[in-house]
Amino acid sequence: MEMQRKSKGNFSSKIGFVMAAAGSAVGLGNVWRFPYFVATYGGGTFLFVYLLLALVFGLMMIIAEVAFGRKTGKSPIGAFKSVNPKFGIFGFLAALVPTVIFPYYSVIGGWVTKFGFQYLRGGGYYASHDGFFSNFNSTFWDPIFWLGLFILITTALVITGVEKGIEKVSMYCMPVFFLMLVGLVIYGLTIPGAMEGLRHYLVPNFDNLSVMTFIAAARQIFFSLSLAMGIMITYGSYVKKEQSIEKAALQIGLLDTGISVIAGMLVVPTVIAIFGDEGLGQGAGLMFITLPRVFEQMPGGNAIGAIFFVMMLIAAITSAVSLMEVVVASVMEWFKLGRKKATIAVAIGSFLLALPTTLGFGVWSHVRWAGMNMLGIMSFISDTVLIPIVALSLSIIVGWVLKPHFIRDEVTAGGKHEFKTEKLFFFMIKWVAPCLMLLILVTSILNTFGFITI
Ligand code: TRP
Repeated sequence: MEMQRKSKGNFSSKIGFVMAAAGSAVGLGNVWRFPYFVATYGGGTFLFVYLLLALVFGLMMIIAEVAFGRKTGKSPIGAFKSVNPKFGIFGFLAALVPTVIFPYYSVIGGWVTKFGFQYLRGGGYYASHDGFFSNFNSTFWDPIFWLGLFILITTALVITGVEKGIEKVSMYCMPVFFLMLVGLVIYGLTIPGAMEGLRHYLVPNFDNLSVMTFIAAARQIFFSLSLAMGIMITYGSYVKKEQSIEKAALQIGLLDTGISVIAGMLVVPTVIAIFGDEGLGQGAGLMFITLPRVFEQMPGGNAIGAIFFVMMLIAAITSAVSLMEVVVASVMEWFKLGRKKATIAVAIGSFLLALPTTLGFGVWSHVRWAGMNMLGIMSFISDTVLIPIVALSLSIIVGWVLKPHFIRDEVTAGGKHEFKTEKLFFFMIKWVAPCLMLLILVTSILNTFGFITI
């Protein structure tokens, strides 16, 4: 992290920070993971809880992390240590989160790469066949090849340091991708049965509300906003005092949530229109099974599919580059390695760690633990064990150890900016965040020992 700091310097413009943070936040989490979480965890009920938590809780967590980073001006480990040398462990755990996420993120990135090539070759028609996705995954080498390719592209970008270039590309692509999503939503809703699906997506049914809904929504919020993994603390350490943290958090949160909501509005109604309610249970493969069917029905569908998957690949790669950067920075710091060596080590290590996840969708699909396949297990470790511990420690440090005036001074930059949500912020950080995090931790432990199944 220290190395990064020197080379990156401060964000030169206000929009620079918002764009960088949004670039890290917007990725597969929005287009791949959000729709499948909505489908799995109850449609409109999930959406309702997600929006509620994102706005009252996610935003406050962004503010807390960015303010913590700006105040200490340090990398996550340094920031935690500056409060108390013993707290360094939480910075270490924060850095461990991307180490667990990057491998499985690359598996999905590999799928996107595969579909991108499939459409670029003009083979979208085949991608829309029943069983295309599962056949692809049931072979041994094919998914491994695309996973490897995705990690290779990401590694090449990190090693050559041309990320700045790709960040620019993604800045121009984001609005196009956004418009494309909106266009696809409109088309998707014209498919017979999609309106019924839209109702399922938008209308909550509180009979289905359970603790699980809150846990799933919180897991998705942390993943999607890149929270509790040191990212926002690091970005915060580059943010200038002239910038209002509160406003920036609102912009980042709204952008990320908006893209998720639109992606869900594309995937969920079309799944129901094409496959009926049973289609909702397709899990992680949801969009890869459904969207090709939508493209197939459209005039010029192959070209649209090609543009869609290429755009999605760009969004995935910018997020993957930033995930890998964090892991590389930590490896450099812990093992005193040079940048190149550390990057290669991370690439190889992540590839090996990703193998079980990718095989879990095919030849290893029988390997299950508490009903979860390998992807489920990996995201269980990151989302329900590591992230809650980091977020719990962060909320206790910010809410209780540092005392309110510390954060108030930072957010207002000594009175320069308003802090409109101050009361809500402290209520969230002191009470709601610790309770929610404990809830996730406890239920995940009970789940591990077989007392409950989540
Ligand atoms: N938020 C990203 C997404 O929605 C994924 C992600 C999680 C991430 N942690 C990150 C990206 C850290 C960059 C850095 O796809």
